[in-house]
Amino acid sequence: MPDFISILLFLSVVLGGDRPAVSQSSDQSEPMCYDWGESREGAVSVLEGEAGWLSCPLFSHPSVYNYSSTQSTGHNLFWYRLPVGHDLEQPIGYSLRLSKDRERLWLQPATVEDSGQYICLLRNKSSCSKIAMRLEVLSRDQVASGPDCAVATAPSQVIIPLQEGKKLDCPDLQDAIKMADGGDLNVTWYHHCRQYERWNMDREQKGPSLLVHLMIDYYEGLYYCKVQYQRRGRLQQFSRSINVTAVNPPSLDKNPSIIHPGKDQVFSVKQGTEVRLTCTGLFPFLESPWEIWWTIDGKTVEQLADPHFSKINRLVSYNFGDRTEETVLVIKDFWAEDLKREYNCSLRNQKGSATRRAQLEEEGSLPSVELGCGLGVTLLLMLVLFTVYHVFWLELLLLYRSWFGTDERHTDDKEYDVYISYARNSEEEQFVLVTLRRVLENELGYSVCIFDRDSLPGGIITDETLSFVARSRRLLVVVSPDYASKGSQALLELKAGIDSMALDGHLRVILVQYRSVQRQGWVRELRRARLALALVRWQGDKSRELTSRFWKRLRVELPVHRVSKEGEACTRRLQSQDSTSSQTGLITKTAKDPQKVFNSVAVAAF
Ligand SMILES: *[C@@H]1O[C@H](CO)[C@@H](O)[C@H](O)[C@H]1NC(C)=O
Ligand SMILES: *[C@@H]1O[C@H](CO)[C@@H](O)[C@H](O)[C@H]1NC(C)=O
Ligand SMILES: *[C@@H]1O[C@H](CO)[C@@H](O)[C@H](O)[C@H]1NC(C)=O
Ligand SMILES: *[C@@H]1O[C@H](CO)[C@@H](O)[C@H](O)[C@H]1NC(C)=O
Repeated sequence: MPDFISILLFLSVVLGGDRPAVSQSSDQSEPMCYDWGESREGAVSVLEGEAGWLSCPLFSHPSVYNYSSTQSTGHNLFWYRLPVGHDLEQPIGYSLRLSKDRERLWLQPATVEDSGQYICLLRNKSSCSKIAMRLEVLSRDQVASGPDCAVATAPSQVIIPLQEGKKLDCPDLQDAIKMADGGDLNVTWYHHCRQYERWNMDREQKGPSLLVHLMIDYYEGLYYCKVQYQRRGRLQQFSRSINVTAVNPPSLDKNPSIIHPGKDQVFSVKQGTEVRLTCTGLFPFLESPWEIWWTIDGKTVEQLADPHFSKINRLVSYNFGDRTEETVLVIKDFWAEDLKREYNCSLRNQKGSATRRAQLEEEGSLPSVELGCGLGVTLLLMLVLFTVYHVFWLELLLLYRSWFGTDERHTDDKEYDVYISYARNSEEEQFVLVTLRRVLENELGYSVCIFDRDSLPGGIITDETLSFVARSRRLLVVVSPDYASKGSQALLELKAGIDSMALDGHLRVILVQYRSVQRQGWVRELRRARLALALVRWQGDKSRELTSRFWKRLRVELPVHRVSKEGEACTRRLQSQDSTSSQTGLITKTAKDPQKVFNSVAVAAF
């Protein structure tokens, strides 16, 4: 028999290695043996010291070979072994440890030396077939799951819906029953490699099975079952594992739904760029196939077979069996034609389907309009502000002063708001005494000091002039051709004012022009002062109204008046003169209603 097998093997090698080949025996009475090569099912793994078995792979496809029917056609099954490092097959020496049961070869228990190639050969007088397979006996330290809860085989997968129950059976248990003396098996269950002496209400062991009555996520994970039995007085055992995962219960809605794009969502696209349309769908747990895809004018990317379009699919999230899947349609170099196409995203599973059309909108057109509008509005606003400022700057200034300006009366110890200096015996005298004084005192409520023309000239008044100027907040100089002729009262006032302004800054000089004056006619002091000071011009009848530019400019130059205060008289102290004569210029009156003035300013500004 060894000779026969070795010749077969030799021929099979010569005729083509692993592929099925027909071997010819030299003995014509022996049938040809059909060699199926090595089984594609992969190596069988058994843990060292545990019970294991090899099933002849010829019977994996019962439609081709059925063990019961082969027995009736006079077939016999033979096992051979090719130990590691050997060339020749050896027949198996059966024993209590190595036994044959129908299409199986049992190892109870397996040892590391049992590893190698095994061949099962099925033969009757007229036909013969054989197939090879591999056995790997692993030592406990070799297995990935570790020596404590070692299993040689991959875990079987079991899905349990949340809030529901299931019975867990140890895999391959039925195969072992006939090996056990009296069919008695002892099964121990572990979860996460931990043995529970007593399970709880949700999980209990009943017979060899573990019952899960009420599934929760905590019960997910690897379960181990250790099977022990007696065979002819010897203890045998093997272990298996089950990977339990929880899924959402079947009572929930199982229709797929589109998460993205939303119903009214618009994708903005830009010509000449790569456009990516993302579609995301939710597939509730179902043990059925599912699908998510884009169509372009009703055609899938595959149907179009256009390099312009491609897709990227991925799993976004997985939650108790519910999967969120994404497909991205990539359009290389988007052009105007693509904008006219119809892009639909579709989902489908066993329960239903959904489709949504993607709304595309070209980027750039809308933003440029918006940008244009925004810029236009801004420019217009700036123009309006600019105009408002230029037309109403005086009003704005007055308004600002009325709100935020400080009333100088509270911060200094001066007696008069304005000291008016003018050329006596001139056209301006009338203007000063009638118009200026009346408005400043009566309408605006300032305390005004004017030295009467009768007081001129006189050496005695010099000191007094200076002291009055020094006690005023403003020196209002009414410029005229005759102003400040040499040695006049006016020149004295002007010098005193300019000196005081230059020295301590507590007095400010305001220039008012009643009629136009040739610059050449001005005295030197005035010409110098003009360089640094504003000139407020009287413009005839136009300036009569209190809301005119003349008065506004003048008020900007004058001190801030918040609250009306009794004006003090600028008392003439000229002992040499008749005290009753020409008192007119020195009477000071109080403001009637300063609030009215603020209001008129506010109305003028807005
Ligand atoms: C094998 O054949 C027997 C009878 O020949 C039949 O009863 C049995 O169902 C078959 N098994 C399979 C798995 O087809
Ligand atoms: C051997 O088996 C084949 C089927 O595989 C059958 O046709 C043939 O009759 C059997 N030969 C004998 C001698 O039983
Ligand atoms: C158990 O199954 C889950 C889901 O099917 C998988 O993610 C996990 O890796 C499995 N665990 C093992 C140890 O096989
Ligand atoms: C695309 O989807 C819309 C609904 O969103 C549907 O009316 C239209 O028929 C679909 N187009 C194609 C080609 O399937």
